[in-house]
Amino acid sequence: KNNMHVDELNHLTINGVSTVDIAKKYSTPVNVYDLTLIKDKISAFKDAFRTYESKTQVAYASKAFSSLALFEWLAKEDVSLDVVSGGELFLALKAGFDRERIHFHGNNKSLEELETAITEQIGCIVVDNFHEITMIEHLVNKYNVTIDVLLRVTPGVLAHTHEYISTGQADSKFGFDLASGQVDKAIREIQPIEGIKLIGLHSHIGSQIFEVEGYELVIEKLLKRARDWRDSYGFDLQVLNVGGGFGIRYTEEDTPLPLEDYTIAIMQSVRKHSKQNNLKLPEIWIEPGRSIVGEAGTTLYTIGSQKTIPDIRKYVSIDGGMADNIRPALYQAKYSGVLANKVHDTNEEKVSIAGKACESGDMLIWDITLPEPVPGDILAVFSTGAYGYAMASNYNRLTKPAVVFLENGNDFLAIKRETVEDHLKLENSIKNWK
Ligand code: LLP
Repeated sequence: KNNMHVDELNHLTINGVSTVDIAKKYSTPVNVYDLTLIKDKISAFKDAFRTYESKTQVAYASKAFSSLALFEWLAKEDVSLDVVSGGELFLALKAGFDRERIHFHGNNKSLEELETAITEQIGCIVVDNFHEITMIEHLVNKYNVTIDVLLRVTPGVLAHTHEYISTGQADSKFGFDLASGQVDKAIREIQPIEGIKLIGLHSHIGSQIFEVEGYELVIEKLLKRARDWRDSYGFDLQVLNVGGGFGIRYTEEDTPLPLEDYTIAIMQSVRKHSKQNNLKLPEIWIEPGRSIVGEAGTTLYTIGSQKTIPDIRKYVSIDGGMADNIRPALYQAKYSGVLANKVHDTNEEKVSIAGKACESGDMLIWDITLPEPVPGDILAVFSTGAYGYAMASNYNRLTKPAVVFLENGNDFLAIKRETVEDHLKLENSIKNWK
């Protein structure tokens, strides 16, 4: 159910809009987002949560992709927002996002960032470390306010795609380590501070996860300990936030679970272990990023030059690459795509898609079968909605693509294409020195 079709001209359409028209109208590279699909993904999580006996929150992890228009649009949806910097927080406030529904993450929040979060009275801060406790204490006293917090716990479970590993001690820069007693110490420290209301615990075990076992293991570990923390320190666990990480399909090789399967497994596990440990059923919060916007995003490029090395490979270059999508170069991430202006043509061949940056590693897709590409063809690359635009750079002084939203046959320019003139606004001429 991804709202993609091929029209009578053999062109790829997304949510009723021809991608070939979009490429003409906005030029390339351009990132398009299917808003209907984003809405469907949020609903998939939320609908499954409806059977839960306590409250739930789905917070979109906005690091995956943020924009003013997206935040304004999400503000009207039944969803919370996870921000990880003063920048994301600023944009959320600018977009008029309900403060109560903003959660603030990060392993090195600055005093200024915390000050904004506290004076704006956002929903909660996910406290990561002891230094942060000291800063929050100082700020709630200074402004004579209270703030809800969760403790970020490093539970000793790491998950990625099909593997999860359970280690006594998780070697991570994030959070309070469970095994070595840091969580106990943090709870003891926070509980007496009047302005800090410890409402729950948070853990995030990884990203692009295709299994539920990692989440179940964390829930088991945390709820077991929650009982001791209640009895020893009077800490009542109201909220259990199990983070994000739910996997998506980039290529045919990926076989993600339906999103509701994660929600259902998480609910069942929380019910089971709350009961076993004689705890009140906590609220469940999740923080999906990739699974909400990843598959909704498609990048359109124009095909340019080609180089054939006989019996070895045909390189086909596009007008973007690692500057707008660093994931293949950084993580060896795999993508799939089609030629949007001739989807079903049958003269197929195997090619490799090269980016335009001056770097051999700038290869977007190795070995993809496409109808014989010629200059001017439009390549649509799928599932680029998460950590694509968000991680884009200006390497080689390339400029960031435009971002276009699609809904029911309409298109909207959410972010203009960047220009080198935009860069110049930040630059000073040395002629003005001295
Ligand atoms: N919550 C926390 C605390 C996180 O650290 C993350 C992601 C999320 C939620 C959202 O995870 P998601 O549902 O998107 O998997 N740049 C990498 C991914 C980095 C993820 C960082 N944390 C990539 O492109 O694969």
